[in-house]
Amino acid sequence: MGIVKDPIMSQEGAYCLKGKNAIVTGGNRGIGLGIATAFAQQGANVGIMCRNQESAKAAVAEFSEKYDGTFRCYAVDISDMQQCRDAVAAFIADFGSVDILVNNAGVAVAGDVLDMDEDLTDWFHCIDIDLNGAMRMSYIVGKYMRDAGKGGKVINITSNSGAIINKPVTFAPYHAAKAALNHLTRDLAVEWGKYGINVNAIAPGYTYTDMAAKMPDEVKDEIIEKIPMGRFGQVSEIGALAVYLASEASNIVTGVVVTADGGYSLAV
Ligand SMILES: NC(=O)c1ccc[n+]([C@@H]2O[C@H](COP(=O)([O-])OP(=O)(O)OC[C@H]3O[C@@H](n4cnc5c(N)ncnc54)[C@H](OP(=O)(O)O)[C@@H]3O)[C@@H](O)[C@H]2O)c1
Repeated sequence: MGIVKDPIMSQEGAYCLKGKNAIVTGGNRGIGLGIATAFAQQGANVGIMCRNQESAKAAVAEFSEKYDGTFRCYAVDISDMQQCRDAVAAFIADFGSVDILVNNAGVAVAGDVLDMDEDLTDWFHCIDIDLNGAMRMSYIVGKYMRDAGKGGKVINITSNSGAIINKPVTFAPYHAAKAALNHLTRDLAVEWGKYGINVNAIAPGYTYTDMAAKMPDEVKDEIIEKIPMGRFGQVSEIGALAVYLASEASNIVTGVVVTADGGYSLAV
């Protein structure tokens, strides 16, 4: 018999993350920063894991000034298993436990498959970050959560292009990595249900990050035309969804991929 969570939940505080310890990979910018901010606003303690420590330290300093929790950052390249192990161990030493893991860090590699070099460098790079990086972190944290016996929440940030082929830019490795991560989400949900670990994914569509801000207006307008809700998503909206999936409110939800793209993938 696995861990039985109390089935009777008060709606008051159902989304509260006070006292929960969360790792957010790529929490220094973009969607990851939106998720880390939402967690901090809901009372969580947050560890940001990424390569660029300047932006990570800036986020930690801002959170520490504005919110009540404890915030730290860790230098890690998720393509390196030992760095992942060391960062998770350092997080546990600092916070005492891990309750929530968000696998957000990712890269988008564009270009036609037949234009790739002979070694398929772009293919292997994208798969190694977007799929294998999430797997490395999930394996390390999943083992910790199983052994600690208190359950936990794993949230994978995939993409609507894990289910559709986005055009006109070609993104085969990215599409394949995100589709595989969606299915890995379902797989781990089934394997880890008995440990009280929920595994879910959020599949954003076009979301307003620095990259979107730099897009020429005509490109943005062309995309917006195809989005039924008529706008890009905001990182705070992905953050709100992550809060739900990290909180007690979603204890019975596992193996689900929640698309957050304003209806784009239904209408292309
Ligand atoms: N923005 C969108 O419209 C959109 C749409 C659908 C899905 N997504 C997904 O949402 C996630 C975040 O996207 P974003 O738009 O916020 O991207 P972004 O602004 O480019 O941020 C990517 C993040 O991943 C981290 N990262 C990249 N490679 C890493 C590595 N090897 N090790 C550790 N961290 C690494 C980066 O930090 P460092 O560079 O400091 O390491 C950065 O924090 C990605 O998984 C992306 O595929 C985004």
